[in-house]
Amino acid sequence: MREDVWAIVLAAGSGLRAGGGTPKQYQRLGDRTVLARALDLFERSGMSVVVVADDPVSARAAGADECAVVRRVVKGGTRRQDSVAAGLQAVPDDVPVVVVHDAARPFATPDLLEAGLAAVAAGADGAVPSLEISDTVKVVTPDGHVLETLKREMLRAVQTPQVFRASVLRRAHAQFAADATDDAAMVEATGGDVVVVSGDPSNVKLTYAADLEAAERRDLEAEPDGDRAGVRVSSGLGFDVHAFGGSGPVRLGGLDIPHDRGLAGHSDGDVLVHAIVDALLGAAGLGDIGQRFPDSEPEWEDADSIGFLEKVAADVFALGWTLSSVDTVVMCEAPRISPHREEIRDRLAAAMRIAPERVNVKGTTSEKLGFTGRGEGIAAQAIATLTRMGG
Ligand code: CTP
Ligand code: MG
Repeated sequence: MREDVWAIVLAAGSGLRAGGGTPKQYQRLGDRTVLARALDLFERSGMSVVVVADDPVSARAAGADECAVVRRVVKGGTRRQDSVAAGLQAVPDDVPVVVVHDAARPFATPDLLEAGLAAVAAGADGAVPSLEISDTVKVVTPDGHVLETLKREMLRAVQTPQVFRASVLRRAHAQFAADATDDAAMVEATGGDVVVVSGDPSNVKLTYAADLEAAERRDLEAEPDGDRAGVRVSSGLGFDVHAFGGSGPVRLGGLDIPHDRGLAGHSDGDVLVHAIVDALLGAAGLGDIGQRFPDSEPEWEDADSIGFLEKVAADVFALGWTLSSVDTVVMCEAPRISPHREEIRDRLAAAMRIAPERVNVKGTTSEKLGFTGRGEGIAAQAIATLTRMGG
């Protein structure tokens, strides 16, 4: 059981758009309720839960009592955000991270939750699963005249579970009173830094009767008990070399490491970041660093390589991958890597928006053999492992 994270599962609200006599969160999908299936995520992740419901007795009967990690069931409010506020009051004050999840999303995966937790561990105030949008989105007046067409590349549809630093979420709820359709909007409006992690197209919010019907079909045909088959794992390898040239410091993993000589090369010569970028591109089947950031384009000349890494990690997440680990080796006689390995790891993790525990940095000499042994340059290797649900 993890002590540092609690989840608020929202099961209040009457589900007007879904219709039907029973609110959607209490309806059955196969042999269990929508709420019971939504709670599975937290049982699997070993996370304490507060369930928020209009009628706590119904919520208990509809699955909350059967779920071992449900610690409290509290009464909800008029708006979704009032229900979240009620849930927050039931979360102990010393819990640093809070997850908010809609009971109406019974197909959320542990990967989705882990990606959000990792982004918050890496420094964000909040992290929300998001998907690119395939339709074009327009702003219209109430009588149907188009005012504006939004830039689709900048738009994302967001889901739950949403992960927050508890203090920031509490502050948002204390300060923001206007209507909001998710918690991230309140955190953004009160100065918090919210990042997106890749969402899952099958993590639908059951909103209309047709969504429930589709979920029933999907549940019975392919995913009995909500178990999700088909995790795809893909690894990529990266290797890079830069010669020493000119004066120090040496740029490694986005940090300037004191040394009498620097690394020569187009861009800043950050051999470690280049190896990781190639590993990520390889794992995602996106080619190599030279194709993605061609030397011939002035945009990339003298570029800070850590910016390449941020861009490529975002590309990989946008394709629905979760970055589960990055391991690296830096080969040189000097400078020594070990005094800087944690700082380098943290810098790399922040650039990729993953938890530092998922990144490893190692240094080795080559026993004075070869070009690295003669102190002519530095070589680096990286391996990145990506996972994605459903192929
Ligand atoms: N919710 C809640 N408290 C409210 C309103 C909504 O806890 N006052 C929860 C719902 O149970 C759902 C989630 O917030 O899990 C997302 O809201 P939505 O899908 O809009 O559910 P409803 O408000 O119940 O449905 P509708 O808007 O169609 O009436
Ligand atoms: Mg609603």
